[in-house]
Amino acid sequence: MKRIVVMCSGGGSNFQTIIDGCQKGEINGQIVQMISTARKGYCLERASRAGIPSVVIHKSDYETMEALNEARHQALCAAKPDLIVLAGFLGILPPQTIQAFSGKIINIHPALIPSFCGKGMFGHHVHEAVLAYGAKLSGATVHFVNEEVDGGPVILQRSVEVLEDDTPDSLAARVLTVEHVLLPQAVSLFCADRLKIEGRKVRILKK
Ligand code: GRF
Repeated sequence: MKRIVVMCSGGGSNFQTIIDGCQKGEINGQIVQMISTARKGYCLERASRAGIPSVVIHKSDYETMEALNEARHQALCAAKPDLIVLAGFLGILPPQTIQAFSGKIINIHPALIPSFCGKGMFGHHVHEAVLAYGAKLSGATVHFVNEEVDGGPVILQRSVEVLEDDTPDSLAARVLTVEHVLLPQAVSLFCADRLKIEGRKVRILKK
């Protein structure tokens, strides 16, 4: 059974899909810790209800970015994870952490990478950019994390049609429903040792 650490920054609806997947036995893993960057996010409530230890590592408690990154790194190392999941995590992990857990960090992004991704492209900024561009398709991507923001090998993607009358909110809501399918699916594949990184590609091994 894989040891999973989830990093969140807000509502934690993606986090909840992993909690549910583990509880239903669809994910061969155990969430051993949730790390929140928010003091009051609902993700903390979700962790508490599920009996999952959580810790808040808030940037205002640290003098420098280096100190914040070191605190995150130490918390991750202490949890001894097989897998780290960035689920609505509004932060950028430092190279030290990415290298220490290479091939073991996955992220959910609310667009079809390599479109509408990279520095500054998070939350509503993504959906606003999709609508401003006039794109006809958007969607969600689960990918491995490397040192390029949103640039790691893609694990799963699924598209969502952009509708004429979409607003950032309505598009975000439809994309979120796809995120809630893809993320637990990717975590389940990882925990079943069915993801093989081959350069830029990820091969999904048969059962
Ligand atoms: C989602 O759109 C996710 O893609 C983004 O943060 C939003 C909120 O996610 N990274 P959650 O409800 O906190 O999981």
